[in-house]
Order: sequence, then structure tokens, then C-alpha cells
Amino acid sequence: MTFVVTENCIKCKFTDCVDVCPVDCFHEGPNFLVIDPDECIDCTLCEPECPANAIHSEDEVPPGQEQFIQLNAELAKIWPTITEVKEAAPDAEEWNGKPEKLQYLER
Ligand code: SF4
Ligand code: F3S
Repeated sequence: MTFVVTENCIKCKFTDCVDVCPVDCFHEGPNFLVIDPDECIDCTLCEPECPANAIHSEDEVPPGQEQFIQLNAELAKIWPTITEVKEAAPDAEEWNGKPEKLQYLER
């Protein structure tokens, strides 16, 4: 089991999640974060911290978001670890809750 970052993180990237992870398993891309499934210990701490409600347990990923399970595993291998909170995207609030953001994912 692991936790998964889903679509609503894209273009928001609030990074509050990073602050609570005890095993530093978040990895950072240009406008999205992912969780390394091999490092996540299922502590659940990050899930309530995300202002975009983008983090879910692998078995509770919302319908239509299943592809993010694979995407987290894939991108975690490529992107560097992030261990400190940083400023969210400048227009993060504007993008919070917008549908179909996968098309904006930058790699
Ligand atoms: Fe880190 Fe815990 Fe969230 Fe897994 S569930 S990503 S270990 S904070
Ligand atoms: Fe993304 Fe939420 Fe973390 S928006 S960076 S998963 S706090």
C-alpha cells in the first residue's frame, strides 16, 4: 500500500504535504509532486495536510484518477526528492479544483 498524489496537485503544488512526511518520499516536478510507493510507509499524515485534497490512499483513489498510481511510481524514479516546504504556485488558488489538469502536467 501507498499514498498517491492525484490530479488536483497539478499547477497548485502547495507542498504542505512535504512538511509532515517522516520518510521524505515526495519527489518534485515542475508543477506536480509524487509519492514514491517504495518509500511510503502509509503513515497517513500527509493526506489531511493537502489544501487541494489531492492525496489519497492507493485503494481510495477517486474514480477516474487510477492512472495516477502508475504515474507516481514512474515519476518518483525520475524526479528529485523534496524535503522542505516552498511557495505554492502563484496562481495555485485559482487552479485548485479545476477539472482535467492532467494535460498541464510538465515533466
Ligand atoms: Fe509520507 Fe506518510 Fe504520506 Fe506516505 S502516507 S507519503 S509516508 S506522509
Ligand atoms: Fe500537491 Fe497537495 Fe502536496 S497540492 S504539493 S499534494 S500539499
